[in-house]
Amino acid sequence: MTPLAQRVLSSKLLGALTAPHGVDRYLEQINPMWAATEVRARVVEVVRETSGEHPVATVRLQPTTTWRGHRAGQYVQVGVEVPGARRTTRCFSISSAESGPGEEFTITVRAHAEGLVSKFLVHDAEPGLTVHLSQAEGAFTLSESPATPTNNRLLYVTGGSGITPAMSHLRTLLRDGYDGRANRKVTFVHYARSPEDQIFAEELQRIAWADNDVSVHLRYGDDVFTEAALRRLVPDFRQTDTWACGPAPMMDLVREAYGDSPRLRTEFFKLSTRPAGTETAEGEVTFAREGSTAANTGESLLEQAEARGLTPEFGCRMGICFSCVSRKTEGTVRNVLTGEESSLPDEEVRICVSAPVGDCVVDL
Ligand code: FES
Repeated sequence: MTPLAQRVLSSKLLGALTAPHGVDRYLEQINPMWAATEVRARVVEVVRETSGEHPVATVRLQPTTTWRGHRAGQYVQVGVEVPGARRTTRCFSISSAESGPGEEFTITVRAHAEGLVSKFLVHDAEPGLTVHLSQAEGAFTLSESPATPTNNRLLYVTGGSGITPAMSHLRTLLRDGYDGRANRKVTFVHYARSPEDQIFAEELQRIAWADNDVSVHLRYGDDVFTEAALRRLVPDFRQTDTWACGPAPMMDLVREAYGDSPRLRTEFFKLSTRPAGTETAEGEVTFAREGSTAANTGESLLEQAEARGLTPEFGCRMGICFSCVSRKTEGTVRNVLTGEESSLPDEEVRICVSAPVGDCVVDL
């Protein structure tokens, strides 16, 4: 889509003419890859990385021109229409080197036993499938340009799927440095359950053997993270810019080893739009137009409305597209992405990311 067409399609006038559904609802019907404000992507390729109990796949995505690009280490929320379920959204790390606006990128996904979206992407995604995206998010990013060599050493300590954002860093450094060099000394330590569970194995081997400033150390099984082992590799690790991402037990050990060193950066996801504490929700939620009142389940207003058989308008279900905006007339809602609460009467809220806190009345 040309920049002019993009500007016209995202204009307020067109937005008003196409209300309440919004211009993206109409564009989507004509071509799933046309969008004025929302971000969608077509699956271009699915590479099955490992098999076994929790198989991993890398999914290459061609986003719409609305994608603003990503920085190495960021993640993206991916919404898929899993057959037999409502659209479901989960966060996945981006595994490819930094992308520019509208450029292809990859996510690398491990299929979890309970993971509706991850299992669908790993087992069922095929080229041609359309998925919904947020813009890239997250602050686990490279702080220096890879094309400006410095003496600063970089250290990556990753475990399991935590390797994914670190791979995005490493690929960016090698792509954007000179002659495939990282242009600074990089130590890359990764812990996997077994060689069979190791993803990106061939590429890591190539990187390890090349003359590129990067040393790669792969550890398996009982060879778990210890401070002493890290000290042998990088004696002044506490003074070394470090990115760590992995399972909670490993991260606890890493944090302990670094103490209060400001050089350690760790990754966490805002994993779900499901608010915390749904099991302790209080009060009642009323959908005034429909005339129904029921106990607050703590889920988002959109989910509670759908559970009662209502069909409010929605688009991304991630708080991005504003398709779901409705009027809350009484009560308090919590934005499940930011945790912010708001009690203003008669306010417009995005019901996909608003959970009622106690009694609440919505004009639906
Ligand atoms: S459905 Fe997109 S903001 Fe709620």
